[in-house]
Amino acid sequence: MKGIVFSEFNEMVEANYSPDIADKIIVESDLPSGGAYTTVGTYDHEELLTLARRLSRETGTEAAIVIRRLGRHLARRFTELYPGFFDGITSTFDFLDTIERHVHVEVRKLYPDAELPRFLTERTDENSMAMHYQSRRPFADLAQGLIEGCAEHFGDRLEITRTDSAADDLYKSSFNLKRVA
Ligand code: HEM
Repeated sequence: MKGIVFSEFNEMVEANYSPDIADKIIVESDLPSGGAYTTVGTYDHEELLTLARRLSRETGTEAAIVIRRLGRHLARRFTELYPGFFDGITSTFDFLDTIERHVHVEVRKLYPDAELPRFLTERTDENSMAMHYQSRRPFADLAQGLIEGCAEHFGDRLEITRTDSAADDLYKSSFNLKRVA
């Protein structure tokens, strides 16, 4: 997984908890990389899960919630770092439609070794959309946080329901998104 995700994890922990806790969990996680991440480096995604579990033990916040918070934080950061992806788009649904066919395609050009999930989106009615996630890595919580962060950015109120399944090392989740007034 790209270093940017790890460095933003660190930022998120510093902002939501404290710089001391951020340092402490890195030391206590005893990571193969040592925890000194550069944004362009690539690291084992297991390290992110280890950090989330450590933070969970330290703070009592469930690890899944930690990863979701990271997703929300990343969505905010992406609007600052990559404003071009958001230009001319006015709704969460329109933006989510661009992830698989545009955003992650560009991410792969930038980072050829990126490990990206697959997404399929379908509009079910005027106010609803389904987004299907598929990955070799278990990051549906990250996807959910990213969706929530995008909804916040576009000012949409979404009701999100999710069903998960995993088989043959493939993680699949379906998100049903409903716009509420
Ligand atoms: C401007 C918007 C976005 C940018 C720049 C972006 C970029 C990235 C990058 C750099 C990675 C790391 C790849 C790696 O670790 O090798 C990643 C992974 C990921 N992205 Fe995006 N992304 C964006 C939006 C989204 C959105 C809206 C979603 C969810 C709907 C999403 C879902 C994910 C997930 C779940 C992963 C983790 C890898 C996996 O599950 O296998 N991304 N993305």
